[in-house]
Amino acid sequence: MGLNLLTICYLIGSVTFILGLKMLSNPASARRGNLIAASGMLIAIIGTIFLYEDNGNKLGNYAWIFSGLIIGSIIGTLSAKKVKMTSMPEMVSLFNGTGGACAALISIVEFDHLSKELAVNNSSEYVSSIQPTVLIIVLGLIIGSVSFAGSMIAWGKLNGKVKDFSFTGQNILNLILLAVALSAGAYLVINPTHSFLLYGILALALAYGVMFVMPIGGADMPVVISLLNSFTGVAAACGGFLYHNQVMITGGILVGAAGTLLTILMCKAMNRSLKNVLIGSFGGSAAAGSASKEHGAYKEISLSDAAMVMSYANKVMIVPGYGLAVAQAQHACHELEKVLNEKGVDVKYAIHPVAGRMPGHMNVLLAEADVSYEKLLEMEQANDEFKTTDVVLILGANDVVNPAAKNDPASPIYGMPILEVELAKNIIVNKRSMKPGYAGIENALFSRPKTSMLFGDAKKVLQDLLTEIKNV
Ligand code: TAP
Repeated sequence: MGLNLLTICYLIGSVTFILGLKMLSNPASARRGNLIAASGMLIAIIGTIFLYEDNGNKLGNYAWIFSGLIIGSIIGTLSAKKVKMTSMPEMVSLFNGTGGACAALISIVEFDHLSKELAVNNSSEYVSSIQPTVLIIVLGLIIGSVSFAGSMIAWGKLNGKVKDFSFTGQNILNLILLAVALSAGAYLVINPTHSFLLYGILALALAYGVMFVMPIGGADMPVVISLLNSFTGVAAACGGFLYHNQVMITGGILVGAAGTLLTILMCKAMNRSLKNVLIGSFGGSAAAGSASKEHGAYKEISLSDAAMVMSYANKVMIVPGYGLAVAQAQHACHELEKVLNEKGVDVKYAIHPVAGRMPGHMNVLLAEADVSYEKLLEMEQANDEFKTTDVVLILGANDVVNPAAKNDPASPIYGMPILEVELAKNIIVNKRSMKPGYAGIENALFSRPKTSMLFGDAKKVLQDLLTEIKNV
């Protein structure tokens, strides 16, 4: 009876994960999707704690289990509530790393159980019967440890505590580390009595995780985190196979698949191969930090002129970018939309898939300020509408509107689809200086005849612009 109920709990868990994931693909249903999947997870956890039985024995250890659950829930809730939107990739990385560590610990604990049994019975029949389990243990250990170590380095890089580090031949050393870890793993599967090897494999996998993420540019971390996320999913699925736990297998595979797809989509939207992200230098802090020395002549627009142009426009398209998130100007931006609407101006937002620093960054940012989803246009839709747009207001965006992506084959971003703002009649660009964005390259849009620069922090500029527009 208990086991049947537990299977139902796992079924509910698996279905809610899939439903939740589907709902996450739309901003309007994303919050509900998250809640539904989390409730499914809660049902699966509670079911396991109270209904799981092994030869008629319940789990027990309730004090340990509930202490862990309570401490973890408090830390998780507080940090999720406190985290700034721009630090979200950091938090995802930290949580993902703990998932990888958890999978690696499961492998260590389960191998210990097997070793104790092997000490009593090491007949060749018994050894060959446990080899598939050892294979899963080794895979979980390697993948989980790489994910843990890599995520910790990614977390350190994003919060500025760890600097990029690389040396000639590092990629070769990395490959050697991985090959040795895999060979030692294969040897352990064949000879599970050589249990000391497990700790050697653990050390090699941790070292590989560190070395693999160390040279990658800080700004490329979201792609790497998504990749590491998929590793954690696969490592958790290995745990599911070990425990014959269906919901862990489903959850792990879903995370693995979703992480892989997200990694591919991010690379595609940036027009870069994963290989280029992992071993290229684009997006490295060195590149992003070095402002181009020369830029073409540009013209500036005053706040009052910008207010005038927008107030008398029929249609204004706002292009949000990373700078809007840095300035936390989303509320001022929504206010501007409302004030312009009152003056009869049609205002929409053009959302580039990789604007900001994480997938869906602009959608989440604008949703925080209650901007209606219907106002958010995806890149293709926006590109169709620029022709009929009077004013494009670019707020802290740079690479996603850089024409070099279309017409400079030598540019590192060549081939990346961009928002074709130049189809509009007027372009107003708000940023603080002429410094480049993430790709560290010059943007010729800023010196084009239709473009005017409106310098300053996005929040301050928007607040001043609001005052001016109200006076028009
Ligand atoms: P960026 O090209 O990074 O440009 C952001 C601009 O915002 C900068 O040029 C900066 O200029 C300006 N800015 C910074 N703080 C500001 C503030 N307080 N007020 C006003 N402006 C401010 O941003 P983007 O156009 O959103 O492009 C995103 C880039 O990140 C792409 O290259 C993309 O490939 C990359 N990327 C994206 C993701 C995802 S998944 N979204 C992941 C990894 C990498 P000033 O310093 O002069 O103000």
